[in-house]
Amino acid sequence: MAKELKFKSMLPKNICFVLILLLHALSPILGMFRMNFPTSPVPIVMWHGIGDTCCNPLSLGRIKEVIEKEINGVYVHSISIGHGFAKDAESGYFMPPNKQIEIACEQLRSDDNLKNGYHGLGFSQGGQFLRGLAQRCSDPPMKTLVTLGGQHQGVYGLPKCPGDSKKYCDYIRRLLNHAYSNWVQRILAPAGYWHDPLDEPTYKKKSKFLADINNEVFINQEYKQNLVNLEKLVLVKFNNDTTVQPKESSWFGYYKPGSLVIQRLNETSLWIEDRLGLKKMGDRLVLLDTDGDHLQFSEEWFVTNIVRPYFK
Ligand SMILES: *[C@@H]1O[C@H](CO)[C@@H](O)[C@H](O)[C@H]1NC(C)=O
Ligand SMILES: *[C@@H]1O[C@H](CO)[C@@H](O)[C@H](O)[C@H]1NC(C)=O
Repeated sequence: MAKELKFKSMLPKNICFVLILLLHALSPILGMFRMNFPTSPVPIVMWHGIGDTCCNPLSLGRIKEVIEKEINGVYVHSISIGHGFAKDAESGYFMPPNKQIEIACEQLRSDDNLKNGYHGLGFSQGGQFLRGLAQRCSDPPMKTLVTLGGQHQGVYGLPKCPGDSKKYCDYIRRLLNHAYSNWVQRILAPAGYWHDPLDEPTYKKKSKFLADINNEVFINQEYKQNLVNLEKLVLVKFNNDTTVQPKESSWFGYYKPGSLVIQRLNETSLWIEDRLGLKKMGDRLVLLDTDGDHLQFSEEWFVTNIVRPYFK
């Protein structure tokens, strides 16, 4: 009886020992298996700027190709708001950011390829829209966010027509004179990030998009946490940007409240009070600049400075 018990209790030990030896002997082979089946690359979600569309072969369509060439097998989803190019382009001008973000959130949630997370790449207003999305819609989770010429503190002026519809721009400029009236906030995308530094109280009270995602009125801890959770937040400013006014907005800089004097990010209350957690991010907040006008960059610059360091 005692003998049998002993035998039984030895059996598992022996098996364990043999298994360990076996696994040890096989480890180089198992390692090879891992190399043969690499984990697939993190998908990328792009959001176009105003006057553009998800898939224009000369802009985001081209960017998609460049990314796919650089990262073998990567899945790229380019956000389109509304069915068809015409609707997508029109929404860029005439659908309020909050609504666009709601649609984008649903769109990403229903894309199975993104369920384990993705990197975001936002162009111009698509930059602050993707940031708003990261803050409001953390499922699926965004990992790294790169914005190119985004307007994170908004704009005060529309010096050059983004996109090529002059007719739209003249109309938009007229509407922006009433940017903070409820009806303009409801029908015009740029009204959502119109930021009048000479009337900060009205901006804070009436801006339905930017004042909210920038935690201007009260601190929404979920927004802050979702931003801090990003692996990296990479903000690209174009040194000779004549579309974004002021261009410092791409780095969260802006006019000092009540004036037209530029403030750096580290001089703003957003930073000093750390209302968004940007200070807390430490060196995971990356500020890049490059010479050139709005969204003017070469394929080589993009691959070397964005794709390889942040997406690969
Ligand atoms: C662009 O801006 C940079 C930095 O301010 C400046 O050094 C450069 O001369 C500008 N380039 C042009 C073409 O204006
Ligand atoms: C802000 O940062 C710049 C460098 O980027 C530095 O020269 C300046 O002293 C800083 N200002 C404050 C108020 O910390």
